[in-house]
Amino acid sequence: MLRALPDESVQLVYLDPPFNTGRTQRRATTRSVRDPDGAHLGFSGESYSRTVEALTSYDDTFADYWAFLAPRLIEARRVLRDDGTLYLHLDWREAHYAKVALDALFGRDCFLNELIWAYDYGAKSRRRWPTKHDTILVYVKNPETYWFDSEAVDREPYMAPGLVTAEKAARGKLPTDVWWHTIVPTSGPEKTGYPTQKPLGVLRRIIQASSRPGDWVLDPFAGSGTTAAAARGLERRSISIDAHPDALRIASARLDLPVTPYAG
Ligand SMILES: C[S@@+](CC[C@H](N)C(=O)[O-])C[C@H]1O[C@@H](n2cnc3c(N)ncnc32)[C@H](O)[C@@H]1O
Repeated sequence: MLRALPDESVQLVYLDPPFNTGRTQRRATTRSVRDPDGAHLGFSGESYSRTVEALTSYDDTFADYWAFLAPRLIEARRVLRDDGTLYLHLDWREAHYAKVALDALFGRDCFLNELIWAYDYGAKSRRRWPTKHDTILVYVKNPETYWFDSEAVDREPYMAPGLVTAEKAARGKLPTDVWWHTIVPTSGPEKTGYPTQKPLGVLRRIIQASSRPGDWVLDPFAGSGTTAAAARGLERRSISIDAHPDALRIASARLDLPVTPYAG
C-alpha cells in the first residue's frame, strides 16, 4: 500500500511497527585492519582498528526484522514532502540499530531528535533497571526547509513552578526531548482494548509540531487508529494502514468509519 502512494505526498509519517520482542539474536561481522592509532592491540604489539562490516538481526517472529522494516522506511521517506518529518517509534531493543539505518537512509544531517517517552507503569524487574521508556527517532527530509512549530505544541507544567514567575507557571513550558506521559489509562474514554495502543497526547504533540491543519499524516502501522484520531482532532487529514483485521475493525469504529476491505 505504501508503494501505491505518490512521491512527496505527505507531511508527516509516524511509524510504530511491531517491536522485535521475540528472542533475538544478532550477528556482527567485524574486520580488523592495521592502524597505528587503532584501539585494539594485536599479539605482535601492532595496533588495529576494528570496523563492523555487516549486522544482521533476526528473531522468532521475523526472519530478519530489518529486512521487514527497511523497505517500509525507504517508502516512508519517498512519500514525505520536502518539508516533511518522519517519526519512528521503537523501544530499547531496536532503537540503536534504527538510528544507524536511518542515518544511512536520510543522511546524518537530517537527524532532528531522539525523543524519550518515559512512563511508569507495570511490573518492575529486580534484576536490572526496570525498562520504562520508548524511543522515538525523528528525521526530516530536508534539514533546510523542514516544518517545525514549537509554539503550536501543548505546553506542560513546570517541574518546579516556584522557580518561575506566576505568569510563566500558568502558561506552562515547552516540552523537551524527554516526554513524561502516562500510558493509555486502563479505564477511560481513550482505551480501545487494542494491546499496543499509544496515548493520544503523545501523537498530538508530534502532529502539532510537524504539520499544519489540512496536511496529510500517514501511519503505516496504525493499530487502533491513534494517529488518525489525533490528526482528526487537530484538523489534519490522515492515511492509516494495518495488516490485522482487528486493527481495521477497532480503528474504523474509533473513527466512526465503515470497514471497506482493500481489494489490492
Ligand atoms: C505497535 S502496533 C501499532 C499501535 C498503534 N500505534 C496504536 O496506537 O494503536 C503495530 C501494528 O503493526 C501492524 N502490523 C504488523 N505487521 C504489519 C505489516 N506488514 N503491515 C501493516 N501493519 C502491520 C500490527 O497489526 C499492529 O497493529
